[in-house]
Amino acid sequence: MLPETPLESVVPFTPASLGVDLCGCAKDKPSHKTPHVRAAFHALSQAFAKPFSVVDIESGEIVYAESESFPCDLTGRLGLLAEVSRSGKPAIIEDVSPLLMFAVPLLSLPVDPPLVAVGVFAYEHVENQKQMAAAAHAFGVDSERALNWIANQTLWPPRALLQLGEAVIQNLVQENQIKRLHHEINDAVGHARDTYIELALLHRLTRHLHLSESEAELWKSALAWLADAVQAQSLALVSHHSTNVKSQRFQIEDPSGVLTQGECPTEKANLQRLVSQLGSRIHESPLVLNRAETSLPTWGFPEIRELVCVPVRVGTQLMGWLLALNHQGTAGEEFSTFGSVEIRLLSSVSTILGIHISNLDLYQQQAELFSGAVRALSSTIDAKDRYTSGHSDRVARVSVSLADTLGLDKQKQDLIYLAGLLHDIGKIGIDDQVLNKPGVLTDEEFEHIKQHPQFGYDILKGVRSLESILPVVLHHHEAWNGNGYPSGLKGKETPQVARIVAVADAFDAMSSDRPYRKGMSDEKLDSIFREGAGSQWDPEVVEAFFSIRDKISEISNSEPVEMPCPTPVPGC
Ligand SMILES: [Fe+2]
Ligand SMILES: [Fe+2]
Repeated sequence: MLPETPLESVVPFTPASLGVDLCGCAKDKPSHKTPHVRAAFHALSQAFAKPFSVVDIESGEIVYAESESFPCDLTGRLGLLAEVSRSGKPAIIEDVSPLLMFAVPLLSLPVDPPLVAVGVFAYEHVENQKQMAAAAHAFGVDSERALNWIANQTLWPPRALLQLGEAVIQNLVQENQIKRLHHEINDAVGHARDTYIELALLHRLTRHLHLSESEAELWKSALAWLADAVQAQSLALVSHHSTNVKSQRFQIEDPSGVLTQGECPTEKANLQRLVSQLGSRIHESPLVLNRAETSLPTWGFPEIRELVCVPVRVGTQLMGWLLALNHQGTAGEEFSTFGSVEIRLLSSVSTILGIHISNLDLYQQQAELFSGAVRALSSTIDAKDRYTSGHSDRVARVSVSLADTLGLDKQKQDLIYLAGLLHDIGKIGIDDQVLNKPGVLTDEEFEHIKQHPQFGYDILKGVRSLESILPVVLHHHEAWNGNGYPSGLKGKETPQVARIVAVADAFDAMSSDRPYRKGMSDEKLDSIFREGAGSQWDPEVVEAFFSIRDKISEISNSEPVEMPCPTPVPGC
């Protein structure tokens, strides 16, 4: 049974005192002096009040030690150290009374190959010099100096060594776990912060896509919001000048084709030169350049230290680039760099801008197609009824002026313009001979003509985008007193838009020349309207008519004007 001795102050058993040079071992392996290894070394040294040597169990090299560490002679002991490492428990691997060699596996350290800490301890008093000489010889040190060393050593009971070794290992494992968790939490917080910034940016941008009044305004806003999210001296949007850009939406008002936000470190023209020099490197994928590249003598833009460049594409077409220039790092950081966070932010904005441009182009194409179809229909009516050329266009424009005077909103005015153009679409179904008859119609012919509102309704009722003008097509010949057709609606039973078109329609019919009669004089026409207000027509609309009488004459006498035909809002 080994005697137990209380701890007392120790005199280090130094390599110098033992005539052994340790320095080479430790200095040759600086890569092993990681914070983890250093922390384990100090934890053991503190717990045992004695420096250990940290050993690579594959090569046998001492990878970490301090000048006070015991100069272990590990020749022939690597197998034992490997066994200790495998077991994961501290063990006494050599026992030559009064000394023992104690090994602690450092499995909790993220290093490969595994490391083991080794220390030499005295566990009993020296009985005679011969005994000490044998022990010193076994551990590979000078026996006389070993004798001096042991005289001042605390004696360690082996069981206490093993128990304390276990406790230190547990502690190291827990500390490393806490450090790892701390890292993971920091990473998660950083990731969550980056994601939040990105989502907030995209939310602002997508919300603004609907509200933006012009694309130029949207580009400016996108750069301003990116500036809030990216730590850069400046953000820039550079248009691609050297290809045939089909979309008119990506036009930057500045003659340089460059829009900037923040304090741009260089001239706008230089940014065009920069994207031109980077060439195909930035046509498909994002590019990040930091000081490793920009400090090279070949870099031609010394004012730009860091750069992120992301292409803005619409389908397969390259429209331009989004740039972040010069990272504005945290104060005190010598080198700050752009990386994956900035690429993601710029790429997200670039993708949304690209989709938005594409949508605007599609919308414009659809609007042009719709407008063309409406005008084609309108021209068909006018071509069929050769006496009323330009009638639909004039009715449309007069109706809009009346609607505006009556305070109808823009959506209703758009609807009424479209309705004016197509109100007589049903004439397609009227016999040409009746429609173009120069003289007075018979009762039968008049009854046939009176069918055109219903014909028009039937033609358009399946066209979803024209549903909102159906009330005008069907009811523009109703009368305020209920004597109109086809439904005999009275007063406000007739939709207001139809009552407005009815006035514009009657005005144009009475004021236009026909082959069989001249258009009415203004005086006669005005007296008919005064008389018919409240019987034939809505008195409010007639009042509006007289309030803009001159403007209406002007419209009536002007050449047809092609106003845009906006797609009507459903339910308007
Ligand atoms: Fe009509
Ligand atoms: Fe008409």
